[in-house]
Amino acid sequence: MNHDKILILDFGSQYNQLIARRIRENSVYCELKPYYTSIEEIKEFDPKGIIFSGGPNSVYALNSPDVPDEIFQLGVPILGICYGMQLITKKLGGKVERSDEQEFGFAEVNIDIDDSIFNKVVNNISDPWKVWMSHGDKVVTLAEGFDVLAHSDNTPFAVIKNTERNIYGVQFHPEVEHTENGSIFLDDFVKNICGCSGDWTPASFIEESIEKIRSEVGNKKIILGFSGGVDSAVAALLLKKAVGNNLINIFVDNGLLRLDERNKVVDKFKEKIGLNLIVVDAAERFLSELKGVEDPERKRKIIGKVFIDVFHDEIDTILEKEGHAVEFLAQGTIYPDVIESVSAKGGPSDTIKSHHNVGGLPEDMKLKVVEPLRDLFKDEVRRLGKALGLHEHMIDRHPFPGPGLGVRILGEVTKEKCDILRKADDIFINEIEKAGIYNEIGQAFAVFLPVKTVGVMGDVRTYDNVIALRAVRTIDFMTADWYPFEHNFLAKVSTRIINEVRGVNRVVYDISSKPPGTIEWE
Ligand code: XMP
Repeated sequence: MNHDKILILDFGSQYNQLIARRIRENSVYCELKPYYTSIEEIKEFDPKGIIFSGGPNSVYALNSPDVPDEIFQLGVPILGICYGMQLITKKLGGKVERSDEQEFGFAEVNIDIDDSIFNKVVNNISDPWKVWMSHGDKVVTLAEGFDVLAHSDNTPFAVIKNTERNIYGVQFHPEVEHTENGSIFLDDFVKNICGCSGDWTPASFIEESIEKIRSEVGNKKIILGFSGGVDSAVAALLLKKAVGNNLINIFVDNGLLRLDERNKVVDKFKEKIGLNLIVVDAAERFLSELKGVEDPERKRKIIGKVFIDVFHDEIDTILEKEGHAVEFLAQGTIYPDVIESVSAKGGPSDTIKSHHNVGGLPEDMKLKVVEPLRDLFKDEVRRLGKALGLHEHMIDRHPFPGPGLGVRILGEVTKEKCDILRKADDIFINEIEKAGIYNEIGQAFAVFLPVKTVGVMGDVRTYDNVIALRAVRTIDFMTADWYPFEHNFLAKVSTRIINEVRGVNRVVYDISSKPPGTIEWE
């Protein structure tokens, strides 16, 4: 890859993925690597600039994360953020001390020296710059050659610079949204200070990936587990562009899918896009293994194991037919999975996280793994999908868990319950779309409860099932809040479900946030 690159050395801050995202949003390629990356590897990566991230440690703690001295001799601009700035100061002869008070939250930074890096962050150099601080230690004496460019009430050295060596330090976090114009600040550092041109775009990514995949795979065949979710759909479109029908997509119908999902996938991807798609109907196999099982974790394990068995069997069938023509297995691993598996605290550096949905594929498959999305964040995968022509509806679709309706039917899973839930869920989603609020909601679905309640329909007593509706607003699915539907909307959905879905006589709405609830009910 011939793009200008920025290296972010990871010292363990909870915000460091954000640094990478902010830079990539501005079309500059960057990678996050652990702080202990060797100087040889750094030279080979050949960055145009290096950022030291923040981190939870104190630079004076025993065995605190450090970098080799030679890094300062590489001659590329360096920006230290929080811990990164403290480390630079300590290593180059300044002093850092534990501060009596921790500084956490908004601070106003006042600019002392008019430097070009402030050009776009404030309108007027005498205006305060609102930033986000989160630190305990602080710099008390600057290293030689450094000047103070800005200070805050609590932090005399909020922004520092060594002009001769092109090294900057900021005590606050420009990568978080709370820092006003933080993204612009980082953009200015990578483009104007480091000289990156901003040429890393979805189009260039597609072109380079195709070349890379072709040279890696040659004329051999690739198998991809295709779920219809964004990651696997984007991976499939990219791989198809590279190897055409040498990509074999396997779609497993586990009987736990949404209403008409299998037909929609076949129509969209096989008929319209022309993907080489094999559909495996394994609904009975899944349902018979799930018979009588009520425990949520056991259900998950069974679904994961049956998926692997079914997938394995299908691969065996393909291998029998194709022989040695098949050599590769593609996976939709994305960058956050890769970063998570490379621990900043010294974990093994190359463990590939197994696919969440299927709980890992057997090692004895003897296929080489191809991961075309391994360098991309989720929002980049979506942008790539758009560039590859994937329909917006597929790109912005709410996530659907791997175990599917298996974790949305509380208690034992049966075909009859699946059919009821599918219809109710479809009505709910359909009404959400009609109301034009689908994209305001992070995830919405119906849940089948394991109780029956008494009702009356016409003049007849009923004793039927309860459907719960769940809809949440969320940014990262780690925390979530329930969606405040209009009462009229809820009334309409409830009436439609009770009237149109036989076997349901009551609908309830879940008003729990996460935490303490989770998004799914199981
Ligand atoms: P929870 O219920 O943990 O869900 O708040 C957070 C997000 O993860 C999805 N989820 C799963 N996805 N396999 C998956 O592929 C699973 O076993 C699973 N469990 C939960 C859930 O739908 C939500 O988006």
